[in-house]
Formats: sequence, structure tokens, C-alpha cells
Amino acid sequence: MSKFITFEGGEGCGKSTQVELLAEHLRRIGHRVITTREPGGTEGAEEIRELLIHGDKEKWDGKQEVLLNFAARMDHVNNLIKPALERGEWVICDRFFDSTYVYQGIAQGVGSEYIDIIREASMGGFAPDKTFILDMEVKESLDRVNSRGEQNRYDEMDVEFHQKIRAGFLKIAQDNPERCVVINALQDIKKVHEEIVEKL
Ligand code: TMP
Repeated sequence: MSKFITFEGGEGCGKSTQVELLAEHLRRIGHRVITTREPGGTEGAEEIRELLIHGDKEKWDGKQEVLLNFAARMDHVNNLIKPALERGEWVICDRFFDSTYVYQGIAQGVGSEYIDIIREASMGGFAPDKTFILDMEVKESLDRVNSRGEQNRYDEMDVEFHQKIRAGFLKIAQDNPERCVVINALQDIKKVHEEIVEKL
């Protein structure tokens, strides 16, 4: 049976590499798999991503970012994720609604009630089957982001912001033990991948 799998974590934690490694593994054992990302994944959602990622830090407030992320997510779920799952394909997504609860809900102070309402109104109970949270020290993730060169609106925010992000994901994992698995992202790439396959 096909599954919807998401990867979450702070900046520079290696999500995109692990998304691809897991997709290759699943294809090798005979599954059809699509990989995608948020915000984005469909044409409309990628347009909204451009609005979110680029520009001044103060361009949007937290609630506006929740709305923009869920507008993109609705397009993505309805036009890509659900149709793929219905065709029997596995879907692996780099970030999903947990990022909204952490970035906007916690780090930007919107709170979870507002997000719960928008989420329920836009996609009901639709949720990932499994979520891998790639966890690492804030200092390490900032070093990785800084050495990456290109930055986005969120990368520019301070250490305290990134500490809130890390704590936020760990809290989500604690509150959703059936769905979420925390992985130590400081291990080498192969070891992280093996642990993901083992916990799937
Ligand atoms: P990424 O592609 O490097 O993961 O960057 C996407 C950025 O968007 C990242 O800094 C996290 C942020 N983001 C939110 O703030 N809210 C969301 O709901 C999502 C999906 C991403």
C-alpha cells in the first residue's frame, strides 16, 4: 500500500539528500515513488513559494505566512499528493504542515489554534503516514547553512529563532509518537539513511 512520508527539520539538516536516498531505496524494492517539497511541488504552489522565500524579513507577518503556506499546500495536496497516492504511488515530501506549526506557530508566535483552524478548513484530517524529523545542534546547522552560500528569508534569522525551530520539532515528535520519528542528523549520511529505512 502506498504511503505519504514527510521529512522535517531545521535548515541544513540534510532533508533533501535523505528524501532522494529513501526514494531510490523504495524504487529498488519495487515501489513507484514521487518526491516533492514544500512550499511548492506544483506550478501554483511554486509561485507562492517565490513570494514566501524571497524578499525582506518583515514582508509578511506570521498569520499571512500561514495563509500563504496553506494556499500552496492545498494546491499541492489536491493536484499532486492525493492523486499520486490514489494511483498507488508513494509520496515523499521535503517539509509539510509540521513546518507551519514550528516556523509560524512557535518561532513567529502565531500559536497552534489559528493553524489548526486553517488546516482543518483547507484539508480536513489529511496527514502524513510517517514523518522523519532530522535533528541536530543549532550551531552545526547554522554552520552548514552559512557554508551553503545562498540564503533565504528564514536563514537570515538569529540563533534564538533556530533554537525555537529545533525545540518545536522535538515537541511535535513527542506529541505525535505514532507518526513522528526523530533521527540524529549528525551521523553520517549512510547511517541516517539506514536508520530511516529501519524505522519506516
Ligand atoms: P527549504 O526548502 O530550505 O526547506 O526552505 C523552505 C523555508 O520555508 C524554510 O526556511 C522553512 C520555511 N517554511 C515555513 O516557514 N513554513 C512552512 O509551512 C514551510 C513548508 C516552510
